[in-house]
Amino acid sequence: MPYDAGLNFFFWSPTKVVFGENTALDVAIEVENLKCKRVLLVTDKDLIKDTVIPERIKKALGNLCVGVFSEVEPDSGIHIVNQGAKLGMKLGADCIVSVGGGSAIDTAKGMAILLREGGKLQDYMGFQILTRPQTPHIVIPTTAGTGSEATYVAVIKDHQEGRKLLFGDYNILPNVAILDPKMTEGLPPRLTAATGMDAMCHAIEALHSLQREPIADGLALHAIRLIKEFLPKAVENGKDMTARGQMLIAANMAGAAFSNAQVGMVHALAHSVGAIFGVHHGLANSILLPACLRYNADACGEIYLDVLSDLGANIEGIQPDKAGNVVAGKIMDFTKKLGLPQRLRDVGVPEGGLKECSELALSDGAIVYNPKFISDSAEVLKVYKQAW
Ligand SMILES: [Fe+2]
Repeated sequence: MPYDAGLNFFFWSPTKVVFGENTALDVAIEVENLKCKRVLLVTDKDLIKDTVIPERIKKALGNLCVGVFSEVEPDSGIHIVNQGAKLGMKLGADCIVSVGGGSAIDTAKGMAILLREGGKLQDYMGFQILTRPQTPHIVIPTTAGTGSEATYVAVIKDHQEGRKLLFGDYNILPNVAILDPKMTEGLPPRLTAATGMDAMCHAIEALHSLQREPIADGLALHAIRLIKEFLPKAVENGKDMTARGQMLIAANMAGAAFSNAQVGMVHALAHSVGAIFGVHHGLANSILLPACLRYNADACGEIYLDVLSDLGANIEGIQPDKAGNVVAGKIMDFTKKLGLPQRLRDVGVPEGGLKECSELALSDGAIVYNPKFISDSAEVLKVYKQAW
């Protein structure tokens, strides 16, 4: 893939990664390495209700754990972050261990800010507002997709305004990510597939981003190879620890890639159907990806040829400007085999709601990194209609 002669970039990925079966049970070592003594465990409602995972982590933390905050919901909101931070302050917490998917991790990032800075979360919205490291944060993901353990971004919903707010700051990058395949063992097949496709979108969007660069590209391309091989296996047999482990690694690599290169229109469009119609983030991305690949095809030929070869396709004879269409077809075959819905109409989005989504998508921060400049909501609407 060619880069401009004047290529200029920096790459930032300081999060320590610990990988292996049952490594989550050694979380106390990581807390001690950070010189912390009072941990607030942050997890989501369902995880604490349906699994023993939070309890096992609490036990592993022993006396280091001073409290558990388990009010996190899917698409966690500002009010939840405030509630959690209040508890953390009351308990004098000096460290957060988050256990869960993207929502729990992003809630914990918001709490890490408020525990150190005080004030209102909205005061820190936007990019690079913070001036010092925030409350130490260790992440134990229970899904393999968001890659949030490796990113400097938190997406937190303002439920009153009905939109997702973006917090991007190097000071909220987690200190440690513990990737333990045992933690994703119980994730049901559909969620495994949907979150895995989120990681696929992170990798492809990092590659076609206007801010793409070679280190992120390397991570993204290998992530695609891993997802192609191991996501179907993890969906078919959740107890396949090799597949679970490789998916955690893929999600982490794709996370580090897009934390540096950014994502584009797939995420902008997915954020909007998520905010307005509550469509699961990974599912929305998975459905929208093919239509966005077709839209970007004429601007990303060489890049999509690389994606195709990582997806195991024979690229001989494929014209670069056609590669986007071929990748789109491959992705649809892949998600069909994973048993995922392929149309927005199948996930509760009414056709009449697409116009509102296209207007919101145009104001999403991710759209500015899309390889093709988009300034007209009518163009976005066409893409939505194709995916509907
Ligand atoms: Fe995502």
